[in-house]
Amino acid sequence: MTDEQLMGLARKAAARAYAPYSDFQVGCAIESVDGELVTGANMENVCYRLGICAEQSALSAAQHRFGLDRIARIAVAGGTGEVVCTPCGGCRQAILEAAQLSGRDIPVLCGSGDGATLERHGISDLIPHGFGPANLDDPRPA
Ligand code: THU
Repeated sequence: MTDEQLMGLARKAAARAYAPYSDFQVGCAIESVDGELVTGANMENVCYRLGICAEQSALSAAQHRFGLDRIARIAVAGGTGEVVCTPCGGCRQAILEAAQLSGRDIPVLCGSGDGATLERHGISDLIPHGFGPANLDDPRPA
């Protein structure tokens, strides 16, 4: 699957977001090292602080489908205009968790809402000097 195709899945997922309060729909598509695919979208709540980002939604699906440590690539798209949607700080932290579990940098493709722009980042660029599982003495207790 090309980067553009993975981004296409993220854009399709955004269309199924539940975002009546911000009216800002975000979609996320995640591919595993074996080519398995999961998607997610933001899901808001009338109790605003309970809203869930698209990335968190897709990461949860990825853990259930194939495991966080097997994530190969992530695509995120949101909004409707020309501004590129990059993951929020919390989502960067969540992606860092997966990256450190696998011991690999994870490419994060970020798309504008209008579909015109696709930026390629690595999670190490998006959250440099991050605090992750590797910082703990015993990151994966039995
Ligand atoms: N949002 C995401 O889903 N992912 C991000 O990385 C940025 C923000 C959502 C949260 C909220 O539902 C809406 O976009 C506006 O902030």
